[in-house]
Amino acid sequence: MKKILDLISEEVVKAFEEAGYSADFAKVTLSNRPDLCEYQCNGALAAAKTYKKAPIMIANDVVAKLKENGIFQEVQAVSPGFINLKLSGDYLAEYLKQMQADENLSVEKAEHPKKIILDYGGPNVAKPLHVGHLRSAIIGESIKRLGRFMGHEMIGDVHLGDWGLQMGLIITELRERKPDLVYFNESYTGEYPEEPPFTISELEEIYPTASGKSKEDEAYKEAAMQATYQLQHGHRGYQGILKHILNVSVTDLKKNYERLDVSFDLWKGESDAQPYIPDMVKYLKDNGYAYIDDGALVVDVKEESDTKEIPPCMILKSDGASLYNTTDLATIIERMKLYHPDEILYVVDKRQELHFIQCFRCAKKAKLVEDDTRLTFLGFGTMNGKDGKPFKTRDGGVMRLENLIKEINEEMYRKIMENHETDPEEARKTAQIVGLSAIKYGDLSNQASKDYVFDVDRFTSFEGNTGPYILYTIVRIKSILARYQAEGGSLEGITIQTPNSESEKALMLALSKFNAVMENAFEELAPHKICAYIYELANDFNHFYHEVKILSEENEEKKKGYLALLMLTRDVLESCIHVLGFTSPERM
Ligand code: ARG
Repeated sequence: MKKILDLISEEVVKAFEEAGYSADFAKVTLSNRPDLCEYQCNGALAAAKTYKKAPIMIANDVVAKLKENGIFQEVQAVSPGFINLKLSGDYLAEYLKQMQADENLSVEKAEHPKKIILDYGGPNVAKPLHVGHLRSAIIGESIKRLGRFMGHEMIGDVHLGDWGLQMGLIITELRERKPDLVYFNESYTGEYPEEPPFTISELEEIYPTASGKSKEDEAYKEAAMQATYQLQHGHRGYQGILKHILNVSVTDLKKNYERLDVSFDLWKGESDAQPYIPDMVKYLKDNGYAYIDDGALVVDVKEESDTKEIPPCMILKSDGASLYNTTDLATIIERMKLYHPDEILYVVDKRQELHFIQCFRCAKKAKLVEDDTRLTFLGFGTMNGKDGKPFKTRDGGVMRLENLIKEINEEMYRKIMENHETDPEEARKTAQIVGLSAIKYGDLSNQASKDYVFDVDRFTSFEGNTGPYILYTIVRIKSILARYQAEGGSLEGITIQTPNSESEKALMLALSKFNAVMENAFEELAPHKICAYIYELANDFNHFYHEVKILSEENEEKKKGYLALLMLTRDVLESCIHVLGFTSPERM
């Protein structure tokens, strides 16, 4: 369906032309004075110079034409030359009726769907998921769902950090603790056990211990680097251990992501890109893109227009070791080969921006991607505690994701039980659903690139701009509809009607913006715009709800119109929260 603002613009264009003025001046926007009008056009002010006429005269001419037009309830020329517009209620109702009948609720799917690989999550194997990975998961999942909603093919890849020194550290520590394990027996040629030589909690303890030791003990660090090297060069026993590390870790990660209602299509990692490195290095050298600088192999990526220094992209260190950039470039090659995406989009901490600038420029310059392949970096800010510093546990440690979720769910449970008497078991379930909305909405309602304060009290509140408030509104609507049905009413075939009041019309106007909001949120990769929209929509609904008697309305036709409006409001809100990555309970 066309956007309502475009439909209005078309009428205003006609009026400008009929009045003898250029359509270039006919731009219509949402009103910034909602107390005076719903839409406005300031074109007469801009046109004054061209036509050497007072703006108000031009505005009057256009208004005279618009007055003949049935789609407006009110058209006014206001000094010095504004054109204020109010839409006709009939027209608005007609638009929403079509919206209700449309399977995508008026949103038009992409005409040319794109294949987009979304790189998000980025957890590191053998290290627990902490809140730093939370933002990537939440924002990435929402962008993925939004892309799908708009009709694109979105492929989510978790891109595990499964390559590098942490593996050698774990092997070294394991070797010290359990030297008799068969993996360390060089003459063993048989199969390795299916049972992993550690549990997930052991594994999570082993890594920090080893990492700590390596910082104090040179020989230990040397051993870990040696083990990493051997692992990467085919050591059979170490590769056997690596498999176990991956299995145990991935099982645990999947459980955690599931709790967040986050899922990936691909569980690939940095290690998958390694086989592409030797050919890539040769290609970069042979074609003159890479050169040796101070022993290291680098590609220049600075550009004339740079305002700050962009250092060369380093491909190999002087000892021949590969780096983060090397792996990301090889991953691009792998993705191009296996999936041929139109775009690769990374949702990563904004502090990694320089890395991605270098990486993207190198990929483009060396033609590792097509000219029209888009490489996009969506950098997010830090999640801080109330003290403004990166989020920590009460005793100052790194907050683990599962504990954070537990804390929120507890708080939600407390609030639900406090609100009304419920079965504790049901309250637990509801607390989980609402708790997830608190976490996700709390994150997504901020522009991704900004730092934000994770405030448990505020995020779990039923009032204000929060997830629980949105869910509360949806539950309110659902329960009105359920009550109507319980009393024998049928929602079959009911349709939206011309608004009877200002608050009803305001709600209808908000609903009519849905397609424009979704389109714009995807274009700008901005889930926070969806949050802002549903907050406004929920407020408009609650305002309407407090002013209008719905179920006790005596005029049956009127009542049905209200209920149809409720159904559309529910559907729009549910679509939005689905895209944001959470669901609503039946009761709360
Ligand atoms: N594992 C990395 C980290 O924790 C994030 C990976 C981001 N994605 C990428 N393709 N580099 O910092």
